[in-house]
Amino acid sequence: MERRALLKLLSLASLGSLTAGAACSDEPAGACEPTRSDVEGPYYTAQAPARERLAEDDEPGEPLLLTGRLLTAGCARPLAGYLLDVWHADDSGAYDNEGFTLRGVFTTDDEGRFAIETILPGRYPDRPVRHVHLKLRDPAGEELLTTQIYFEGDEQLAGGGYPGPRARLDGGIAEVDLILDV
Ligand SMILES: [Fe+2]
Repeated sequence: MERRALLKLLSLASLGSLTAGAACSDEPAGACEPTRSDVEGPYYTAQAPARERLAEDDEPGEPLLLTGRLLTAGCARPLAGYLLDVWHADDSGAYDNEGFTLRGVFTTDDEGRFAIETILPGRYPDRPVRHVHLKLRDPAGEELLTTQIYFEGDEQLAGGGYPGPRARLDGGIAEVDLILDV
């Protein structure tokens, strides 16, 4: 199956599960606490384009749908029209510092959802933990938070020092809710 078709199926399955649950009623304790900031790192590039998907079909790597909701503290309400400025390493662990491969801006929908079709970020020697960098902005473009999303079960997290949120990775879908105290 082509990656795009696979991700479409994964996306529908994921959104179904998100719709089925009331906000955070089935979340672990602390899940509705504000998302913690994390370091920006040296590889951010401003002015990344708005995108529908982050990785093209010919991008090497394991397909990944990174999805979830952006909510206010306590998971009280969704934040629609907010911007996720996302960047991560390619399958070999390299960043595109010349162009905008695996860099892009996504907008949350009316229910605060985001769905980013991409590949699993590669590990790189300086920082072998898998991670996705992002900045969150309000609909007017004001920057509110810089953080990194990690993946539950990554053995590289064991040493600590990674305050950003953990996505639950299962079958090519990584789910994480992001919480802003706005
Ligand atoms: Fe990084």
